[in-house]
Amino acid sequence: MIKIAPSILSADFTKLGAEIEDIRSAGAEYVHFDVMDGFFVPNISIGIPVLKSVRKMTEMFLDVHLMIDKPVRYAKAFCDAGADLVMFHVEADSYQNISDAIDIVKENGKKVGLALKPRTPASVLYPFIDRLDMALVMTVEPGFGGQSFMHGQLPKIAELRHEIDKRGLACELEVDGGVDPVTAKLVKDAGATVLVAGSAVFGKPDRKAQIDAIRNA
Ligand code: DX5
Ligand code: ZN
Repeated sequence: MIKIAPSILSADFTKLGAEIEDIRSAGAEYVHFDVMDGFFVPNISIGIPVLKSVRKMTEMFLDVHLMIDKPVRYAKAFCDAGADLVMFHVEADSYQNISDAIDIVKENGKKVGLALKPRTPASVLYPFIDRLDMALVMTVEPGFGGQSFMHGQLPKIAELRHEIDKRGLACELEVDGGVDPVTAKLVKDAGATVLVAGSAVFGKPDRKAQIDAIRNA
């Protein structure tokens, strides 16, 4: 089953609770929560205090995407703040520290994911993939919503789908960046199971129509 994960990076933060309620009633499965530190990516977004507030107002699955350097430092804090899944970037630290961060999230009873920037090959995930609940392929350079989908990432999605199936894993395959009702068809055909969409959902008045169009693309 395809899951839709609207990214609140494109929501109106002055009424974030209402925005989240809007996507819930429109049928979205996940809330995608983008955390940026101004170092791993050239932008700063939201963090732990906002996550705590969101956790209090919804039972939706909170899919937390950390675009931060050395995520092992904050893995437990994001679990404690109410994430259901904590995802970080394989490029953000050494093999050992990424491995330790995975362990911390699992020890805290949460799901864990690893993300790939566009220039990182799929194979970099393979030493970790058996331990993951989710793998994420970025289809834009991380840092900003509203960018154009990078079609060159489609073979990487297909390669990861093949590897997950070959190993018989339950790992979800998420795609993030430039997903709209047109590109959604391409990523689904390549094997994605979770589709993040920021501007394509929050940038339009009828969120249900957009979510349905992405899901049924
Ligand atoms: C980008 C973020 C994305 C972003 C997606 O760094 O990780 O989640 O919000 O936004 P759209 O769907 O507008 O490309
Ligand atoms: Zn994201």
